[in-house]
Amino acid sequence: MDFSFDINKLFREEITLIDNRLQPCRQHGIDRYGFQQLQKMLYEVVDKMGDASAKAQGLHGSITTGKKLELANHHLYLMIDGSGNDGKGSALGILKVGRKKLFVYDSLKVQHELDPLCILDFYVHESRQRMGCGRRLFDFMLSKENIRVEHLAIDRPSPKFLSFLKKHYGLDSTIPQVNNFVIFQNFFSNRNDGRGRRNITPGGFADQVSPKRPSSGKVILLLPI
Ligand code: ACO
Repeated sequence: MDFSFDINKLFREEITLIDNRLQPCRQHGIDRYGFQQLQKMLYEVVDKMGDASAKAQGLHGSITTGKKLELANHHLYLMIDGSGNDGKGSALGILKVGRKKLFVYDSLKVQHELDPLCILDFYVHESRQRMGCGRRLFDFMLSKENIRVEHLAIDRPSPKFLSFLKKHYGLDSTIPQVNNFVIFQNFFSNRNDGRGRRNITPGGFADQVSPKRPSSGKVILLLPI
């Protein structure tokens, strides 16, 4: 996706992690006004990529906007081709992740309260799909977040995304849940992020309760089907 301005002023690397401060990369000798102008451009790139993602997924509203990012503790990975658009750079893809409090059933139908890292939005521009950009973006995120792919929960994966996960990571076999989040076999194996975890047996007892993380929003209940 191309813009009228030079996006290389905002992003120095092929993939940039943007958090709730929405800071463009540092420029020497820039004053407050200059910084605000750059930040405005950054919001525009995030908003337009979020819109394109929503369109590609047939959604009515965008999951990713600059404003939403500002208000949540999520991470947005944004990929560019610095040489695109006659040297002004093109935005190629976005991948948004964040922790959510979920009640998740394992394959024995035991319910667990967890706050796993979730894939919330993933999009590669139509002109660059099926060329390996998604894989590079996803691998970068896995390494930065220091997480194994099977430990992720995925919010309503599209058929293309399911095909992507199967092809690149061999993720095929899901543990059924009734809500929109999808988890795969081995989701519960060797986790090192059991913070705030509570196992709720069918009898209703919590066998382990530890301090809760700050609330990441609404509680989502996943039930077995
Ligand atoms: N049809 C079926 N599978 C596809 C398609 C497609 N049109 N495009 C990509 N894939 C899958 C396939 O497994 C493909 O391998 P193949 O070409 O050998 O069949 C593989 O992805 C290609 O891998 P990459 O090139 O690394 O991935 P890409 O750069 O295309 O990015 C992505 C994958 C992000 C899913 C991209 O296709 C896309 O943006 N799709 C539209 C938006 C979307 O569906 N996003 C996921 C929404 S769900 C969520 O965000 C939680």
